[in-house]
Formats: sequence, C-alpha cells, structure tokens
Amino acid sequence: MANEGGAGAPGAGRGLSRLFLRKSVEQVQAEYEQGELKRSLGAVNLILLGIGCIIGAGIFVRTGSAAALHAGPAVLLSFVIAGLVCAFAGLCYAELASTLPVSGSAYTYSYATMGEFAAWLMGALLLLEYGLAASVVAVGWSGYVVSLLKDFGIFIDPALTAPLGAIVEVKDAAGNVVETVTGQLNLPAALVVLALTLLLTVGVSESASFNNIIVAIKTTTILAVILIGGFYVLTNLDTSLPNWDPFIPENEGPGKFGLEGVARAASIVFFAYIGFEAVSTAGQEAKNPKRDMPIGIIGSLVICTVLYMLVAAVLTLMVNYKDLNVPDPVAVAVNALGPEWSVFAGLVKLGAITGLTSVILVLMYGQTRIFYTMARDGLLPGVFSRVHKKFRTPWVNTLIVGCLVAAAAALFDINTLGDLTSVGTLAAFAVVCLTVIFLRQTRPDLPRGFTVPLYPVLPILGILSCAWLITTVEMRVLVFFAWFLGGACILYFVYGIWNSKLSRAPVEK
Ligand code: ALA
Repeated sequence: MANEGGAGAPGAGRGLSRLFLRKSVEQVQAEYEQGELKRSLGAVNLILLGIGCIIGAGIFVRTGSAAALHAGPAVLLSFVIAGLVCAFAGLCYAELASTLPVSGSAYTYSYATMGEFAAWLMGALLLLEYGLAASVVAVGWSGYVVSLLKDFGIFIDPALTAPLGAIVEVKDAAGNVVETVTGQLNLPAALVVLALTLLLTVGVSESASFNNIIVAIKTTTILAVILIGGFYVLTNLDTSLPNWDPFIPENEGPGKFGLEGVARAASIVFFAYIGFEAVSTAGQEAKNPKRDMPIGIIGSLVICTVLYMLVAAVLTLMVNYKDLNVPDPVAVAVNALGPEWSVFAGLVKLGAITGLTSVILVLMYGQTRIFYTMARDGLLPGVFSRVHKKFRTPWVNTLIVGCLVAAAAALFDINTLGDLTSVGTLAAFAVVCLTVIFLRQTRPDLPRGFTVPLYPVLPILGILSCAWLITTVEMRVLVFFAWFLGGACILYFVYGIWNSKLSRAPVEK
C-alpha cells in the first residue's frame, strides 16, 4: 500500500511536503490487525472505561471553585455549555473511532488524515489531556485524603501536601490562622500516582476489572449524593431556594460572575468531561471496535452529563456557592445534612477518593498507549513500545509516564494544571472536529460505522466552540501553552522527523 503522502526517501527529505506525509487508512487498519496487545474489552467494559475516566476531580473538586469564584449557582449553565462542546467533539470522535479503530486515538486520526506534523502536535496536546490531567486528579485525590484523615484526627504536615512554594495558612478549629507554611511538595498525590503506575505495569485485564469495581463505587457515591441531597433540598425548600437567588451573581470583573463568569467556569468544569474519548485509545484492546467504540464514547458521555447536572443543582441548593471554594466541595455540601449524617459524609469522601483513583488509572493508561503508538511509528524512542514478555504491557513507557505525572502532581497547583489541561484538550477536540471534515473530503468512500449527524454544521460548531472556550482562560496559561507548542515543534524537527518510520518505508506499487 502506498503512503498517501508519497513516502520513499529516508529522514527529513522532500521539504515542506514531508510535514504532510501521512499513513493510508488501510495501513492504519493493517497495523491494528498486527497489534501485540490483548483484545479483552467489550462494549460494557468500554463504557465503564469511559465513566472510569470521566467522573473525577472535575465534579468532586473543580466544580467548587468554579461556582464560588466564577459562576455561582449558574455553574449549572457552565455544565450545559461544556457538555455541548463535548457532545460536538464526542460525535466526531465516534465517527473517527468507527472508521479507524486503532490505538493512539486522535494522534492516529491526525496521522492518517492531515499528516505526520499534525499527528506530532496532536501527541503533544494529548500529553496535556492525559498526562497532565492525571496530575490534576492526583492533586484532587490528595485534597480528599487529607480531609478524611483530618476527620480521624490524623494531620499531615501542610508543607507536604501543597505545591512547591505555595503559601499555606494553617487554621485552628475556630478558623483563625495560626501560622503560614511554605509548600514543598504534594506527597500523597505523588505516592498514589506511583502506586497506580505499578498496577498498570502488571497488566490491563487486571486493571480493567479493578476499574469496573471502582466505577461502581463512584457511581453509587454520586447517586447517593443526588438522592439524599435532592431529598434534603425538597424538604427544606425555604432554606435551599434562596441559595439560587441570584442564580447568576452580578459581574465583579474579568471572568468573575455574570455571563462572562459562566463562560470562564465552563472552561473549568470542561475538565469534568475529559476522558469520554479515552475509550478510543483502547482500539487495539477492544473485541469489536467498530460497533463498541461509538457506544462506549457516546454512552459514557450521556450518562455522565445527566449526573453532573443533578450534582451541580444539589450542591448549589444545599449550601451557598460562596462556601464551595474548598478542596472537598461535595463533602461540604453533605455536611449541611447535619451532624447525624457524619458517617455518610465520611463515606462520600471515601467514594470520591476511590473514584479519583480510577480516573488517575485510566488517564495514565491512555497516556501510555499514545506514547506506545508514537514509538511504534518511530516518533518516540523504541523503549516506549517495548512490551513486557509476561505482563504484555509497555512497562518502561508506563514507568516513565508514572514518574512524570508524579512529579507534576507533587510540584504544581491544581488550578494552573487544570486550566492547562482544559486548553490542551479543547485544542485537541477542535483538531478532531477538523479531522472529520478533512476525512470526509479526502476519503468519502471509506465505510463508516457511525456518521456525525447534520454534517458539516456540527463539526464546525465543535471547532468554533472549542476555540471560544480557550479564549476564556487566563492569559498566563495561554502564554505557557504557546511556549509548550513551540517546544513541541522544535522537538519534532530535532527528533521526530529524523526517526519517523513512515518516511523510510518503501513505496509499494
Ligand atoms: N474528567 C476527569 C475528571 O473530572 C478528568 O477528573
């Protein structure tokens, strides 16, 4: 099969056209047939894989500061906006996943459509979406663990639970500041990442079963909060309803309340949806990818959207949004039920911790599989695709990813990490929507198991809405993002372009 971009010369030859060298769709499908990984995941496992990744720090942690600092009760609208953006992208993912059922997800879609340079940049964006997001969730995990331990009278040195250089105020029981300490590292966050790294090294089947159990616990926790919180709201309408007045607090400056704040909060709670497309990274391990991957992606997205709307409504009705800027906002809302519910509050924290664990696991799983695919293409060193003989997992890759994620979680603060993750993911989603349009134009003949309805309106809306949400994020994060992309481009010309296997492949006639 000829490479569509015209391969043949090794290395970086052929000037600009070299950047657009792409794999043929048939080549991508043939590689899928030759994969070394076990195919053990069915439709239900894929939906659970999706939910395992979606419900996490977004709803359990970041919703609190989004409501308290940016949107007030109207964080509900932010969820609608972010959910819509994800729905556009989700439909595009489903079409690509049903056309190109391969490991590596959006990276591979870019390689087979817009070419190698686009694929490389997509790989860089996915590092933010998976690797960095895993750090965010690990920091959220640490917040709930510290809070739960405190309930049992166990206090961890605050300098060991805060990012490097952060100023932490230590308060007494009455809420008075008794001392300030400078953060050194978030030790619990780093430790949980390292523990899960070992689990992932041992194997996907074991990890998938582990994931299924955790998803059940996490969903039960969320449903319990919705049902018990909802009952509380309905029986205390006189105290609950005033919390929604005003529903959209008046604007207090850039990104603070008002409609502008709702949009800013949408880019924050967008984080809560990240992960529905993690299903598409499991292409090589899915039993029947053509049918099951669209079901996995859309199914998990729909289920989680409904749950988020309900949780956001319950939280902002049970307590005033101003009280939600804490590391454990769901627990704070549950505390409003009264002291007789303290055991339930403890269980909710435990459920959140368990849920966050599953998200870290699935995000790191996705990251290692993307690196695995890039290494098989020669764009990363071969060590990233080395598979362990007994465990049949890319073990060195997993250990490297684990160390990087642990370091980011230990040293940086959750808001910066979270915003950067949202920006990188929104950019990746926009490229995915563009890819659908590109592939429909260049390969209208390909059989597609699922097609985006209302084409090309929905993919275009996807691109525009992702670009718009990016503009609501703080300028310093956008500047860092630009530097990150610049660095990725340089790395391509220093390493990727010289080592790509595709450019050295002989052209078949
Ligand atoms: N959506 C995932 C979370 O909220 C990444 O933790």
